Amino acid sequence: MRLPAVLPPILLAASVLAGRAADAPDFVREVRPILATHCFNCHGFDAGARKAGLRLDERAAALLPAKSGAHAIVPGHPEASELLLRVTDSADPMPPAETGKRLSAGEVDILRRWIAAGADYRPHWAFTAPARPSPRSATSAGFGNRSTASPWRGWKRRACGRRPRPIPPGSYGA
Ligand code: HEC
Repeated sequence: MRLPAVLPPILLAASVLAGRAADAPDFVREVRPILATHCFNCHGFDAGARKAGLRLDERAAALLPAKSGAHAIVPGHPEASELLLRVTDSADPMPPAETGKRLSAGEVDILRRWIAAGADYRPHWAFTAPARPSPRSATSAGFGNRSTASPWRGWKRRACGRRPRPIPPGSYGA
C-alpha cells in the first residue's frame, strides 16, 4: 500500500517542529544569564545607559530596528539577526572590544539556537508549573457529578464491547 501523498510533508513538518522544540534553549535558565552578564549594561532597562537605542531585556523592544536600522533579533533567522552577527564579528564585536569580554562558542551557540527556535522570552513549558484546573463542584443530588461518573460509565460499556452511549443532558443532576 502506498502512503497517501499528504503524509510525508506532515511527518516532515512534525519532525522539524519536534526537533526545534527539543533544541530550543530555555530563556530563563540559559539565554537570559548570557544577555544579563554581557549585554544588559548597555542594552537593558536603563534608558540612560542604553546604547544604539537597542534594548534586549524585552522581546517587543528587541525585535524593533536598532539605531542603524538593523534588527538585532529576527525570530527564526539567526543569519539575519544583527545580534548574532555582532557577537561573532571579530572587527566590531559585541560586547565591545574595550570591555575585554567575549562570548564563548557555547554561549554563541545557545543564542543561535534560541533565535532559530523563535527567540521566545518565556520559560520553556517544561519548567513552568502546571496550572491547576478549577475543580468542578460536586452536586449533592444524585450519586456524583458528570466529571467522575461519565468516564467510568463509558469505560464499562466499552469493556462489554459496546459503544459508549451519549449522556443525555441533565443526567446525574449536572
Ligand atoms: C559597554 C557597552 C556595551 C555592551 C556591554 C554591549 N554593547 Fe552592543 N553596542 C554598544 C554600542 C556603543 C553600540 C553602538 C555602536 C556600534 O554599533 O558598535 C552597540 C551596538 C550593538 C548592536 C547594533 C545596533 C544597531 O544599531 O544596529 C547590536 C546588535 C549589539 N550592540 C548587540 C549587543 C549584544 C548582543 C551584547 C551582549 C553580548 C552587547 N551588544 C553588549 C555597546 C555595548
